[in-house]
Amino acid sequence: MRELPHPAPFPTYRPRRLRTTPAMRRLVADVRISPSDLVLPMFVREGITEPVAIASMPGVVQHTMESLRKAAAEAVDAGVGGLMIYGIPTHKDATGTGADDPDGVLNTALHALRQELGDATVLMADLCLDEFTDHGHCGVLTEDGAGGIVDNDATLTRYASMARAQANAGAHLLGTSGMMDGQVGAVRAALDDADRQDVGILAYAPKYASAFYGPFREAVNSSLQGDRKSYQQDYARDAREALVEVAADLAEGADIVMVKPALPYLDVLRAVADASPVPVAAYQISGEYAMVEAAAERGWVDRDRAIAETLTSIRRAGASIILTYWAVEAARAL
Ligand code: PBG
Repeated sequence: MRELPHPAPFPTYRPRRLRTTPAMRRLVADVRISPSDLVLPMFVREGITEPVAIASMPGVVQHTMESLRKAAAEAVDAGVGGLMIYGIPTHKDATGTGADDPDGVLNTALHALRQELGDATVLMADLCLDEFTDHGHCGVLTEDGAGGIVDNDATLTRYASMARAQANAGAHLLGTSGMMDGQVGAVRAALDDADRQDVGILAYAPKYASAFYGPFREAVNSSLQGDRKSYQQDYARDAREALVEVAADLAEGADIVMVKPALPYLDVLRAVADASPVPVAAYQISGEYAMVEAAAERGWVDRDRAIAETLTSIRRAGASIILTYWAVEAARAL
């Protein structure tokens, strides 16, 4: 426990003095967010001719290739720090073959964006199989369920192949979000073998099995039955486990570590930020977005203030990078 400071007693000390005007509050603010701290997650769907609205995420869409390019360029103009791209294929199968197909929706989109944007932004790719598998899990399944429903080591081979495809397509950073043990090391080795030492790894560590991924399932047309509790972390564990996950990912070659979700895990974020020698990101996920949008729609919270407050809280807890579906709007407001 930190020792409490001893201010002069009232009436000499009046904390309200520093809260009197907007200018005074701005002057003494400790936490600020820049547009370049914000990363916009974007969805691109194969086989559609118009963007498709995601009902549980008002204002967020599944893009066509064309609308993705336009929206990405707008986001870069607004000054956001990066883009995280998710692909939704028309064909899903047991091993997620669309994920490492150079002509698959995600790799095609990465290629187009890198061609168009060059190095003007940091292009990130979700490196996970769940958007591409017909069962909706983040890896390939075991035949008999031994060792858990998802086969860890067989999945690493698939991730290594995805890593090569995403690097070739032009991603600067690969977001290892599948929560397989050893995934960062497998991806780093695959990149290095392919002479892609330049491509970095944004490691999801820690990542919790969360109810707040709900709207994301709609966003990627997921067919998942059940849950991901045999591979994503249990929220009843504390920051000690989170730090072990971070240490393991760093030892395997993570360049940036990310806490996910953000708002229900600010304590974990603070612990990771205090300990991490590499930049720390946090992901304000789909359900966090949906909660504020839904309450605002009912007039129950002030939307703009709630957005600013949640983003500031995440920054205050130690994230230097924030993934948020409000990235463009927030960047413009800043
Ligand atoms: C895995 C992945 C998920 C999210 C980002 N990457 C889904 C999951 O782990 O269940 C969730 C993002 C969000 O909810 O906004 N591909």
